[in-house]
Amino acid sequence: MERTYIMVKPDGVQRGLVGEIIKRFEQRGYQLMALELLHPTKEHLEEHYKDLAGKPFFPGLIEYMLSGPVVGMVWAGKEVVKIGRKMLGETNPLASLPGSIRGDFAIDVGRNICHGSDAVESAEREIALWFPRGVPEYKRDISVHGLI
Ligand code: TYD
Repeated sequence: MERTYIMVKPDGVQRGLVGEIIKRFEQRGYQLMALELLHPTKEHLEEHYKDLAGKPFFPGLIEYMLSGPVVGMVWAGKEVVKIGRKMLGETNPLASLPGSIRGDFAIDVGRNICHGSDAVESAEREIALWFPRGVPEYKRDISVHGLI
């Protein structure tokens, strides 16, 4: 089953949006596979965002990401990487449609509440980075959910 890594960033945690974000993925029908609140290290964040290391906003991004705990999650289901990105909205919240998480809750690109993997390969890299002990699989009861 396809998996993605979704992270509620420090501003999302501070603003009490963890439950809202979980709710949206659950009600869409995706399956929660792993969940952790953690205080990431600078090194971990630099590895997570290594493709952006040369960008002018990189130092500010790392500083913001270190400003408080984050909540990392693994979600699974049909096309969860692409649909998860749609549910988050655009990188810039001002370009995000109402109905998306960023479109409903944010206005600043530097405080955009959440992260979602942008491709299946980066999702697997990020899941391995943030959940190094692995993510066990489990089966949902389709008689209850009718989703899988
Ligand atoms: P990026 O990976 O391009 O976007 P996304 O999070 O939508 O995959 O950028 C990572 C984060 O860097 C982004 O969520 C917010 C921050 N960022 C800025 O602060 N300024 C910018 O101009 C860009 C492009 C990103």
